Amino acid sequence: MLSSPIELDELLSVSNYQFKNEHELEKEVLKLWEIFTQKRDHIQDAYFTEKQIAAYLAFYFSTNFPKIRSCLEKLPPSLIAEFSNYNVLDFGTGPGTFLFGFLDIFPDFSKKLIGLDSSELMISQAKEIKDKFYQNVDIDFEVSHDEQIDNLLMSFSNSLNELEINDFSKLLEKYRPSALVFIEPGTKETFNKIKEVREFLLSKNYNVRYPCMSNSACNLAEDDWCHQYLKLKHSQSIERLTQKLKKDRRNSPVIFHYYTLKKNIEACPIIFRVLDETKFSYECEVCFDNSIVKHRVLKKYLKREGIKKSSFKSFFKAGSLYDCKIIKEISANYFESEPIF
Ligand SMILES: C[S@@+](CC[C@H](N)C(=O)[O-])C[C@H]1O[C@@H](n2cnc3c(N)ncnc32)[C@H](O)[C@@H]1O
Repeated sequence: MLSSPIELDELLSVSNYQFKNEHELEKEVLKLWEIFTQKRDHIQDAYFTEKQIAAYLAFYFSTNFPKIRSCLEKLPPSLIAEFSNYNVLDFGTGPGTFLFGFLDIFPDFSKKLIGLDSSELMISQAKEIKDKFYQNVDIDFEVSHDEQIDNLLMSFSNSLNELEINDFSKLLEKYRPSALVFIEPGTKETFNKIKEVREFLLSKNYNVRYPCMSNSACNLAEDDWCHQYLKLKHSQSIERLTQKLKKDRRNSPVIFHYYTLKKNIEACPIIFRVLDETKFSYECEVCFDNSIVKHRVLKKYLKREGIKKSSFKSFFKAGSLYDCKIIKEISANYFESEPIF
């Protein structure tokens, strides 16, 4: 099975297009980058040739794969445990990124895995990866899937932002999933889309399980937005490619949401935004029950828990759970608190 960090050669060995040299690969990735970031109305032009699929594999698959683990590991263990009960349908699977990333966390997963994509080339690329690295795992990669599946988790990774809300609503009606996961780019545009999807899902009796811990309306101001932050590690060969292209794929903002038809069980505050670090403390905004409050956390509290000084910063990341004990109220909606581990 593939596992992080993935090497570029491993991926290019299952590609149907062989680049003549690094320069040709870099040029093709930059063209894709331009379509994804500046020419989104031409998005369907991104999956037409084997050369494009090979460039997608080398740059996007390699750097999106570790995001799946990083995101799912943000969930508390009780929520992660739910995943082994689902059959999974990955919509807009591309080369199978979500499913292969999922198997990296759940290597013994025994329920159905289905990857769906309208691009025949993407589906055949996903099958090549499966045949080489996942010979003992059953995964169906298909361009269409008509039958309903029981106890279904539908996943969207970098595919929701290629769908209109109307198409999404038709998908929901067709598959009636018990749960949905979204791992999408951490941009303001995607946040606006997920906000719309969130409202729609709440109206259809879904509960939001992450990152909001309640179903009340999102209180963020019109021009504000919420995302999670991942720090990823890539192999030297992938890191070299991203550096040559001057694209940072290690510090990665994402929008990660998880919904189910079940009730919220545990509510826990989430770090919404990291503010200042002073000599003695960190300050951050924390979202709980859809209200944002400010917290000051003294470094001595972290030290007392045996956390190394070098790891303090990584504790304060947007999107991390923040269970805490309030020490005192400094002013309205501003608290000194101590993390509970
Ligand atoms: C940016 S890629 C993401 C691929 C993969 N999920 C990942 O995270 O790397 C978006 C994928 O969605 C697929 N897609 C877009 N619209 C679709 C639709 N209406 N039905 C099925 N697949 C679709 C595209 O063909 C493409 O492979």
